[in-house]
Amino acid sequence: MEKKQLDWENLGFGYISTDKRYVSNFKNGAWDAGTLTSDANIVLNECACVFQYAQTCFEGLKAYTTMDGHIVIFRPDLNGKRMEESARALEMPIFPVERFVDAVVKTVEANAAYVPPYGSGATLYIRPYMMGTNPVIGVKPANEYQFRIFTTPVGPYFKGGVRPLTLRITNFDRAAPHGTGHVKAGLNYAMSLHASVTAHAEGYDENMFLDPATRTKVEETGGANFVFVTKDNKVVTPKSESILPSITRRSLLYVAKEYLGMEVEEREVLVDELKDFAECGLCGTAAVISPVGKIVNHGEEICFPSGMNEMGTVTKKLYETLTGIQMGRITAPEGWI
Ligand code: COI
Repeated sequence: MEKKQLDWENLGFGYISTDKRYVSNFKNGAWDAGTLTSDANIVLNECACVFQYAQTCFEGLKAYTTMDGHIVIFRPDLNGKRMEESARALEMPIFPVERFVDAVVKTVEANAAYVPPYGSGATLYIRPYMMGTNPVIGVKPANEYQFRIFTTPVGPYFKGGVRPLTLRITNFDRAAPHGTGHVKAGLNYAMSLHASVTAHAEGYDENMFLDPATRTKVEETGGANFVFVTKDNKVVTPKSESILPSITRRSLLYVAKEYLGMEVEEREVLVDELKDFAECGLCGTAAVISPVGKIVNHGEEICFPSGMNEMGTVTKKLYETLTGIQMGRITAPEGWI
């Protein structure tokens, strides 16, 4: 298979149309067999539930070229399970995890020429998503759905590659307590747009959301979860019912404990204790783990000792071990690849 001629080393995190995408439709209570298509466009009725009431959820995962030239996918079963949770929360039908993994594999195989080569720093981002498709005007779930997967080759999520980020804290909320913050609903991301656009306009890389009930605890940025390193070398990540359970975060905690022999804690993280951490990182499929150098809390600057010029020692080890596992340089735990 001949690779496409793309400028792999200089890809940003953007959409590039690839050859094939997967489509399956749900009608009369059942999913059809599903198929690959070349058509990147979707034609729906103007009153489709997804347009009127945002009944949609999605996933994000990646395929990698390993050191010895294989194409691998990282933990797709966990994305499939999380999508089942999202579907339940949004009153959508379940697309079974076995079918999800099979569809992801078929879509990646059909777009193998777009999986960036080993060493390029780029990966193939895989975007499964599902939406309510039939016309709905009273507020209720659709009864017809479409599940799709497209792929796109991507470089680093944050412009400028791996460099310490600057975040800000404001009074914007991303998700309500006991709402949908823990599932990958499109509406959560719509909720984060105003905060992130205004953060960018003010020169920040992202907005840090706090728990909406008390605004005293760290949640996430909308696009990524937080990982902190304490001065006595523990890895800490926020526990909350309204943040997305990131598969990268879960994998990093495992890596910290089992590969780096570190203590790990999932617990509430107070804004007041941010100043005590040695390192801070943003993690997710897209972000991998990106170092945070500074957080500005309503004008008050909190700088991490790891600094604005480099990646902290632990963040770097986590990054290298996780990407080493994904690219086949380090032996993966059973079932991860
Ligand atoms: C991912 O990390 O895959 C996500 O879905 C986050 C999105 C902001 C790109």
